[in-house]
Amino acid sequence: MFTMPQFAKMIADRERLDAHARALRRLVTPASVVIDLGAGTGVMSLLACQAGARRVYAIEPSSAVQVLAQAARDNGFAERIVILPRRSTEVMLPERADVIVSDLRGVLPPHATHFADLADARERLLAPGGRLIPAVDTLWAAVISAPDVFEQRRAVWQGAPHGLDLRSAQPYVDNLMERVRARPEQLLGPPVDWARLDYHAPLARAVRGRGTCVVTKAGLAHGLCVWFDAQLVDGVGYSNAPGTPETSIYGQILFPWPEAVTLDAGDHVAFELRADPLGDEYVWTWSAEIGRASEAAVKRFRQSSFKSWPVGPEELRTRAPSFAPSLSATGAEVLAVLEGMRAGQTIAEIVEQLRASHPRRFSSVDEAHGFVAELALRYAE
Ligand SMILES: C[S@@+](CC[C@H](N)C(=O)[O-])C[C@H]1O[C@@H](n2cnc3c(N)ncnc32)[C@H](O)[C@@H]1O
Repeated sequence: MFTMPQFAKMIADRERLDAHARALRRLVTPASVVIDLGAGTGVMSLLACQAGARRVYAIEPSSAVQVLAQAARDNGFAERIVILPRRSTEVMLPERADVIVSDLRGVLPPHATHFADLADARERLLAPGGRLIPAVDTLWAAVISAPDVFEQRRAVWQGAPHGLDLRSAQPYVDNLMERVRARPEQLLGPPVDWARLDYHAPLARAVRGRGTCVVTKAGLAHGLCVWFDAQLVDGVGYSNAPGTPETSIYGQILFPWPEAVTLDAGDHVAFELRADPLGDEYVWTWSAEIGRASEAAVKRFRQSSFKSWPVGPEELRTRAPSFAPSLSATGAEVLAVLEGMRAGQTIAEIVEQLRASHPRRFSSVDEAHGFVAELALRYAE
């Protein structure tokens, strides 16, 4: 869930906001129905009304969308905006939309359930021939020299505080992607586009691509710098390339190598990047083959965000298909609440029953109420 300061930053990113305003003005007519998918505090809904939309459906499960209720009145758009405080996958609409505007990305477009949610909305909620904003995202990669970030990631583990050897954490750190704000002069050659996401075409949840970066500036390289450029409609978009202003909400991702490599002009880095969905998250894998102008590959790296966090034997055991899970104490408490909900009980009734069945866990009404209310928010309708 985003906080109000985070929503404020999204609005303060004027390049992104202005591009969306332009895109909406291009696509929206007085007859248009617009869906603001993931409305947050509703700024895109207001922009869609400003562009002339007949009706805007603002879909957002976070209560941040309540800001829009008053803002719609304050701006004279209350008659045209319908707020749906739910996830888009749970929404049915009385009419299909001509335009869906959304930004469900993270620093990069493969993020959480972005593609699945967009595919669902496109199929169920968009009119034939309807348009999506954004239309296309292009993913870029370039070789980067980032000594500060690279060294700082390792410093604590290599610093031997109190003479302790903590280098066993190093392999995890080496597989950790990191958000950066790179400067153009840190890139050791031109970027290569390695994936194009056309949101009007069928969307796979996995993203894969490869390319070869040619080094044009000698330097100490630390990995690949990756970002995306957005095309909202033809000719309207924004770039997240290194050098974008501090106000940009995205930045770039450093896909580090396990060691720094000295590169000369003419060297090349053949890379492969892939993002594979795992539940509601992505596992990223990146490999690089570094070659000199006249020689075969001198270095090969292959890393994965899957290896960025230690998985203990207990976790491996409980993930095995042969494992028969039994309910934990917390699981039993959750089940009691869900069963109360299925039986149609009120929150007060569920709280009372929960306290009776788990008196040691819930010593006060407030504690039990908080527990039940949170589950109701997540699973009730
Ligand atoms: C990055 S914010 C964008 C907020 C606002 N639209 C903007 O562009 O400034 C993404 C929002 O999408 C919401 N969201 C994510 N998946 C959603 C879904 N399937 N249905 C509705 N909202 C969703 C999140 O709760 C979050 O508030």
